Amino acid sequence: MSALFMGIDVNSENVTVALLDYKGDIVTQVASGYKIDVVKPGWTEQNPAIWWEALVNACSTLKQRTDLTKVQCIALTGQMHTTVVLDKHGQVLVNALLWNDQRSSSSALELEQMVGTTRIKEITGNIMMPAFTAAKLQWFKINRPEIFHRIGHVLIAKDYLRYCLTGEMAIDVSDASGTGLFAVQQRTWSDELIQAFGFDRSWFPEALDSSSVSGLITKNTAHLLGLKAGTPVIAGAGDNAIASIAAGIFTAKQGLLRIGSAGSVIITTDEPQIFRYNVQSVSSLHNFCHALSNLWYSMGNTLSAELSLHWLYDALAVYSPDEGAWQKLVSEILNVRTTDDWLIFLPYLGGERTPHIDSKARGVFFGLNFRHDIRHMALAVMEGVAFSQRDCLNVLRQVNLNVNHFKMIGEITRHPIWCQILADILDVPLSVPYYQNSAQGAALMAGLAFGMYDYTLIAEHQSTADYYPNAAWKSYYDRIYITYQELYKSVAHLY
Ligand code: XUL
Repeated sequence: MSALFMGIDVNSENVTVALLDYKGDIVTQVASGYKIDVVKPGWTEQNPAIWWEALVNACSTLKQRTDLTKVQCIALTGQMHTTVVLDKHGQVLVNALLWNDQRSSSSALELEQMVGTTRIKEITGNIMMPAFTAAKLQWFKINRPEIFHRIGHVLIAKDYLRYCLTGEMAIDVSDASGTGLFAVQQRTWSDELIQAFGFDRSWFPEALDSSSVSGLITKNTAHLLGLKAGTPVIAGAGDNAIASIAAGIFTAKQGLLRIGSAGSVIITTDEPQIFRYNVQSVSSLHNFCHALSNLWYSMGNTLSAELSLHWLYDALAVYSPDEGAWQKLVSEILNVRTTDDWLIFLPYLGGERTPHIDSKARGVFFGLNFRHDIRHMALAVMEGVAFSQRDCLNVLRQVNLNVNHFKMIGEITRHPIWCQILADILDVPLSVPYYQNSAQGAALMAGLAFGMYDYTLIAEHQSTADYYPNAAWKSYYDRIYITYQELYKSVAHLY
């Protein structure tokens, strides 16, 4: 049998397309990259056209490796919250505002004042975060009214690609829960909030279950990409929800660390969590619908995880950004990891969400001495990201969501040393599944929806590496973590 299933992930740094065969084995994968446009500190944008261009590029490489007309079903995933506004004719009005864009922080507060934080939480499970689509739309309303008044459609990044592929507009429930306009319990749009905020219900496409068919590949797209016209494209899900599928998580009370551009600590639940008390750290958790219809998840999110390491390479430009140089630097980090010389990095290059909800926060290196070079800085970046994940895990524990083991997925799995640092700093065992990114998770979702795969098949492909906390490093990191936390408290008022 030669059936293939395709997953497309439009993430912050590239479009990754993964192909799985009928047995669920990975056939091949291609990524086509682009940059985040940081137009001002804390303001991040991308032109949606570059996502489409990257998808076309990725497919033209794939076409040379395999016959894409064998693809039976396609699923989409990607950066959550990243919002594309289009006019009523479906033309993009302006660059997309990304998930880590911080310009809407006062807009989020304005929306909270209109309806009250308690009511927003009751409906959406969340406070209004600057990342959420609603806050971005409010920003357009106040700051770019000429754009706001022309809005006819609002799409999330992966749904923009769906529109290009099929001509249909749709969203899935997991990404809809990241808009600040979605009733997480009922898994439907909240007409109450949409109306109260002065938006138009017709802007928002139908919110589908992740495995529902959202449209078919058009003739033109088929011709351009090498696919078969009429191939079904299912709704898919946001990158964090789909990563859980890749990790083989189908039930409540399971833990996932997803370290890609952002860092997410996720625990699945069998009902939406709505934390009614007002503690900032708890409010900084996200509570969203999962890709599976009887599941939700709570999540702490660090804005700059792999992005922090990429920044370091770019900023210092000591190593060229090719794959070999990256691996070399990372392997040399082991030589400088010691318990008698420390350097701390706060990974807040573009603000932070969990636990601080601080759009003004910025990165800090603390403790530089004459012995330090780029290897120490890279190590500190990896440790700083791991400490930020520990902060997220602590908040989940604060609300009694806890697990004693995490699956781990994302770019980080390419760096065994970083995985070990995470195990040591979080003090939990971690395992890396066979499917290691959201594109592969999306391809799995496509196979599940098509009826080719079942959960047993995914479970059979699990765990390729395990990392256990090392007691000696744990006690060292417990001490450094206290300084890490104190450091933010000491500098927060200076941002
Ligand atoms: C989740 C979030 C990020 C993005 C980018 O709330 O903003 O994880 O999905 O990966």
